[in-house]
Amino acid sequence: MTATQPRRAVVILAAGKGTRMKSNKPKVLHEVLGEAMLGHVLRLAEDAALGASRVVVVTGHERHAVEAYLQATAGGRARVAVEQVDPRGTGHAMQFALPHLQDVDEVVVLYGDAPLLRLQTLLDLCAARGQAAMSLLAAEVPDATGYGRVVLDADGQTIARIIEHKDADAATRAVRLVNAGMVCVDAAFLANALSRLSDDNAQRELYLTDLPAIARVDGLRAVVSRAADWQEILGCNSRSEVADASEILRLRILHRWMAEGVSVERVADCWVESTVQLGRDTTLGAGVELRGQTVVGEDVVIERGCVLRDCKVEAGAHLLPYVIASESSIGPGASVGPCAHLRPGSELGPKVKVGNFVETKKAKFGAGAKASHLSYIGDADIGAGSNIGAGTITCNYDGKNKFKTVLGAGVFIGSDTQLVAPVTLGDGAYVGAGTTVTRDVPAGALAVSRAPQQNIEGWVARKAAKQAEKAASGVQGSQGG
Ligand code: UD1
Ligand code: CA
Repeated sequence: MTATQPRRAVVILAAGKGTRMKSNKPKVLHEVLGEAMLGHVLRLAEDAALGASRVVVVTGHERHAVEAYLQATAGGRARVAVEQVDPRGTGHAMQFALPHLQDVDEVVVLYGDAPLLRLQTLLDLCAARGQAAMSLLAAEVPDATGYGRVVLDADGQTIARIIEHKDADAATRAVRLVNAGMVCVDAAFLANALSRLSDDNAQRELYLTDLPAIARVDGLRAVVSRAADWQEILGCNSRSEVADASEILRLRILHRWMAEGVSVERVADCWVESTVQLGRDTTLGAGVELRGQTVVGEDVVIERGCVLRDCKVEAGAHLLPYVIASESSIGPGASVGPCAHLRPGSELGPKVKVGNFVETKKAKFGAGAKASHLSYIGDADIGAGSNIGAGTITCNYDGKNKFKTVLGAGVFIGSDTQLVAPVTLGDGAYVGAGTTVTRDVPAGALAVSRAPQQNIEGWVARKAAKQAEKAASGVQGSQGG
């Protein structure tokens, strides 16, 4: 028989002022590896494995910014934001969450400034509670300054009490086991205990960390769950701690992808955000940055200095150095760069080639189409197999409105061509070099708008003779003066 899963809610504490950040921005919106700390914590809270029926976020300091973030990133998920009026500590924050916790058996509390926690550690914390009133995550850290110290009974498992750093004497400060902050607590016990908190402490706050001592008074147990990796529990209270956390997460993610079959040429200098997906046998060069919802397939080579945000790169594609791309897709076997710029809405089909100093925007390239050198292709639909010569420009903007350029399949555009949109070129059309295309070109037709060439015989010699004459008269002039 399997035990029924308790009805569970998650509360994220995010109301704190974050004084040590010295910032106008709320602490939980400071970014760790390119994503707000709160975003990392939300991903954990909303993981299906945790099975929470509700996520409650306690806001306070700069709460409008925090609430705007919650909305902007919700993607249809139900999130409850509650305001903690006049924040007075973590226990006080929980009192405001309480009205939203009436229909659950168990509450998981996460701190908005602790972005490194792993899902498995959180699941272990919940499992550790068993029949106890609560379980609390702790770890032994090299430097315990600022953390609450966890004082255990002789059994090494039951928590006697937690003493905040500011309330601790020298002997207690010597304790290395610190409170990570996250707890899993019986909902009925929580409701009862929150009404009994007192602010009789150094900070005159209501501490959530007084819960284990209250459990003891009631003859209940609070148990400790130890994080194997102390770095997971780091709380980020200053910009230095944010940078440290970012670096820890960066390395963790790179090593995870290497374990999954991705090669990283220079670990010290490669940035892959938590939201990115990579396929096996893909190689990342030095200084590569993969951001946001970027998804990269198998056997892709991304060379030095490429920066991709919210892009899709399919199997076997090759990005030469310094490709900058956002909100774009790169088809299987395509080749891009070096030094190409794919702006939002660029869609390169299979085996497309976009070469150096080519900028694209809202441009669709059919299979095998090429723009190998020095071009701007915007608001365009390029048919399969078309070839765009060096220095081709889509003139898509008249200063007010944007217009579209449409090329059929197998179109050939000679070098230094302007395509003045709106304009359509039929299948197999051919445009001579140096042409300014202002009217549609039918399928199979040649368009040329070049002025006829003149050759003026002997012109160079005549010009040289004239210059020599002028110079000589100039010299005489100065002698006579
Ligand atoms: C807290 C713990 C400490 C633990 C450490 C782990 C308490 C009293 N102390 O200390 O034992 O070792 O975290 O990082 O809980 N917050 C609110 N409302 C408030 C105050 C804080 O929502 O009134 C939020 C903050 O936004 C933050 C979290 O709670 O996300 C922790 O608050 P913080 O002030 O950073 O607590 P610490 O002093 O770090
Ligand atoms: Ca903290």
